[in-house]
Amino acid sequence: MTLLGSRPTTSTSPRVTGFPASRLRRLRGTEAMRQMVRETRLEADDFIYPLFVTHGQDVRQEISSMPGNYQFSIDQLLAEVEETAKLAIPAVLLFGLPASKDEVGSEAYAQDGIVQQAVRAIKAAVPQMLVVTDVCLCEYTSHGHCGIIEGGTVLNDPTLELLVKTAISHAEAGADIIAPSDMMDGRIGAIRRGLDESGFSQVPIMAYSAKYASSFYGPFREAAESAPQFGDRRGYQMDPANGREAMREIALDVEEGADIVMVKPALSYLDIIRRARDEFALPIAAYNVSGEYSLVKAAAKMGWVDEQRMTLEILTSIKRAGADIIITYHAKDAARWLREG
Ligand code: PBG
Repeated sequence: MTLLGSRPTTSTSPRVTGFPASRLRRLRGTEAMRQMVRETRLEADDFIYPLFVTHGQDVRQEISSMPGNYQFSIDQLLAEVEETAKLAIPAVLLFGLPASKDEVGSEAYAQDGIVQQAVRAIKAAVPQMLVVTDVCLCEYTSHGHCGIIEGGTVLNDPTLELLVKTAISHAEAGADIIAPSDMMDGRIGAIRRGLDESGFSQVPIMAYSAKYASSFYGPFREAAESAPQFGDRRGYQMDPANGREAMREIALDVEEGADIVMVKPALSYLDIIRRARDEFALPIAAYNVSGEYSLVKAAAKMGWVDEQRMTLEILTSIKRAGADIIITYHAKDAARWLREG
């Protein structure tokens, strides 16, 4: 018998539903009660902390649109990574600012590039820290696009070769996880093959799979000095209007060998995180991007919102939507607040 065909329960039925038998406020009365029935728990383990590394000595330059975040020279970066480790945050994500930029982003795959040097230094000083490296060309190209340009467009297949070289150079430096963020077609497969052929079959790939062409990256582009010099990224990053396409992007990356897939940004895309969680079995990362961070910081500075409560609510909602891993500039603050209770 189907449920639809069943008779409505009578008043003598032992099954009681609805008010006044049900009062959901019973389990909300005290903090102990709320703790007991809490469905989502945020912890420092969930976080990856993004860091910007630059050439030089003793550099600790605050990023004006991202208060509390800095461009660090390697010596300063190590102190920051040590602090991150003390807060029990398991991983950092590195972005590099090259000494000079050119048409083909040479420093992205230079053996002694800034990221390659930083990875070596971190793995020597704080070996337990997982080092994730962003693989992309936009910080390293003079035109600020994520690939090789010809006739005003970004060429897909020739760019793959450079991304593979970049990924291998990061693995050689000791990177624990490779995270390609360029959105070229076929890059996960190309990078997987390149890593495998170079003896790095054990190095996982975290793919920026569903990466949208978003206004929320604005402050990052100041931090990484990576704004495109002409046009925009809509020819390779996803249209914010599309959800089904995100599932296709993820499916292709899984097929090509991704170990972790990412949705980016997080907050305007919680539905995409949820769909990804429901449709795929591998770990899902969400990137709580620069603009999402800056909005909270700016409003808090104005005295309009409670920064701690708002930040923890945002991060909890990203986890509740289905993210296993949250990449966030709030990581250190959040870890501190969670520790203090
Ligand atoms: C590089 C890259 C970007 C971000 C991460 N990797 C910028 C972009 O695509 O323009 C954005 C991160 C953030 O906004 O916090 N392609």
